[in-house]
Amino acid sequence: MTMGVWPTSGLSFGGDYSPEQWPREVVIEDMALMREAGVNLITLGVFSWIVHEPREGQFDFTWLDGMLDLLHENGIRVDLATPTAAVPMWLHRLHPEILPQDEFGHPLAPGGRLGWCPSSPVFREYSARIVDKLAAHVAGHPAVAMWHVSNELGGGNARCHCRVSNDCFKAWVTHRYGSIEAVNAAWGMAFWGNTYSSFEEITTPSGRTAHNPGQMLDFERFSSDALLGQYRAEKEIIARHTPDLPVTTNFMVGLGPDVVDYARWAPEMDIVANDHYTYGPDPLRHQDLAFAGDRMRGMSDGAPWMLLEHAAGSASWHQINLSKKPGERIRHALGHVARGSDSVMYFQWRASRSGTEQFHSAMLPHAGASSRIFSDICALGGHLERISEVKGTRVAGVQVAMLHDNEAGWALRSGLKPINSPSYADSARALHNCLFERAVTVDVLPAWSPLGGYKLVVVPGLFLVSDENARAVAEFAEAGGTVLVTWFSGIVDPVNTVRTGGFPGAFRELLGVTSEEFYPLDVDESVELDNGWRAKRWTEFMRTDAADVVAGYASGDVAGHPAITRRTVGAGSAWYLSADLDEASLGELADLILADSAVRPAALVSRGVEAVRRSSESSSYLFLINHSDDDGWAQASGVDLLTGLAHVGRVELEAGSVAVIRE
Ligand code: GLA
Ligand code: GLA
Repeated sequence: MTMGVWPTSGLSFGGDYSPEQWPREVVIEDMALMREAGVNLITLGVFSWIVHEPREGQFDFTWLDGMLDLLHENGIRVDLATPTAAVPMWLHRLHPEILPQDEFGHPLAPGGRLGWCPSSPVFREYSARIVDKLAAHVAGHPAVAMWHVSNELGGGNARCHCRVSNDCFKAWVTHRYGSIEAVNAAWGMAFWGNTYSSFEEITTPSGRTAHNPGQMLDFERFSSDALLGQYRAEKEIIARHTPDLPVTTNFMVGLGPDVVDYARWAPEMDIVANDHYTYGPDPLRHQDLAFAGDRMRGMSDGAPWMLLEHAAGSASWHQINLSKKPGERIRHALGHVARGSDSVMYFQWRASRSGTEQFHSAMLPHAGASSRIFSDICALGGHLERISEVKGTRVAGVQVAMLHDNEAGWALRSGLKPINSPSYADSARALHNCLFERAVTVDVLPAWSPLGGYKLVVVPGLFLVSDENARAVAEFAEAGGTVLVTWFSGIVDPVNTVRTGGFPGAFRELLGVTSEEFYPLDVDESVELDNGWRAKRWTEFMRTDAADVVAGYASGDVAGHPAITRRTVGAGSAWYLSADLDEASLGELADLILADSAVRPAALVSRGVEAVRRSSESSSYLFLINHSDDDGWAQASGVDLLTGLAHVGRVELEAGSVAVIRE
């Protein structure tokens, strides 16, 4: 990642802007209202291909020139999108074959967005041409501050089964394995006699038969690579015309696994950027936001990242679209900044009257500028101005790393498992929540990241792991660190083959245990541990080889056998959790492990208060966000940049309030 120049001098604030949907007088009003709110960056042109190229091969940038000039006059910088998420209808008419096909061979219908097969050479040619014309045209324009490649690549077109995709998948597999014998060995095609005789026989795995898990995992990798190919092609063209402008694309990082492998894409971004939408009915949506932020930081090597989209109110794609609770707009926006974002951007600036998302919230709602949303947005603009000195600082004092790998999630959902219900991130999210509640900051890292400098490494449900990454975890423990590995980790290798000799495979020796058999529990079942804790959903029948038993199973089929173990390893220790503990029990385990590893919270806080520190060599800022309905407090000293008030020793935090303390 070559860290490009940040697009704005202060924290970036704004959103997606689609002036092509509005008459001139509305656009003029937008400029005044953007200035009133403190907007300094907007994303322009995401869906504007048809405006730039109204007919095949006829280019017209008059509208764009006018918009860039107008925004520039108003002091607003532009994150300019390549319009490749929005295929013009004339292109669908000329080339219906570019539409992606589902697993039944049915093409998507034209009319939405991202209506193209990631491997289509026809689409690549047309998209390369518009990107080239666009980048050549705007090069040197002072309003253009960065590039936004396409939009949410893979959002709707990530898994294509058309003939071209099939051919490209065969080529990808050939390149990866070299010989058909190697493919058969890697995927274990001897099972059910599915052995291939030639690369010609390989197809994209579809839901129409029970495919081989190795083949399914490789199809996910291939699909991610195909979309990355589009990003690279566009970036290369852009870089020829505007070599100094940073280039990114908006990720959709959540809990994972994601639609593409963002951690493996991140090094190709000049700034890593995310779109994050909370799910209203999730009572822990602020923690979901924190988890995504911690993942983004893990992908940016700790450098500031960009929040490119979130919602000012409700989304519109859920069954029931809950809006933000009072104060949540501010808490969510500053929650992203607390975790390392140097921007607060929305989808979108002005709510659309028409189109699929006509009821999606916006910074400027249908009600207009005399609205609570817009007045909150103006207040937020003021807050970002007041805290602008945090820009460029990094989240600091992080002592806990959590390992995450999209491939582990993809492997978990490929083929049949002892329980087919868990999603990969279940364990990660539960543990992250325990730490979040204790104001302990976590870097959620790609599984291959360097671990030096951390005190505790958490390995939650890392189903797939390479020998090398597992070895790094063991070396971390030997060097004095504390490791926690949880159930269903280390089970398969990178080709999705089970590691034999006992579970948890790659981590068995480090942990000093041998788990022989999984004992999932029925839906309403739970078992007790001999220290009073409870487990649901998952238990194991295991023995210790070289570890101490922290707690054993006291009821159920594996009663009398170890459930949680700890092994002293070199100067450190390695804990194994073989059960899916309930929330209270997991919290108590977290307390034990935090004590064992001497990990400290960012600050002492009352229940429900989020605390994260950002600092530079010369400054330190403590973000405090009270997510609870009760008044709270934090032990901290300094000036609250939002209010200007000085605090000594203790900051009072009214229910729902936020403080940013310059320490
Ligand atoms: C059936 C099949 C076996 C195996 C088992 C277990 O009995 O004949 O090949 O698939 O189910 O699923
Ligand atoms: C995504 C897209 C936006 C918009 C929003 C809201 O993040 O990038 O164009 O559709 O979702 O639904």
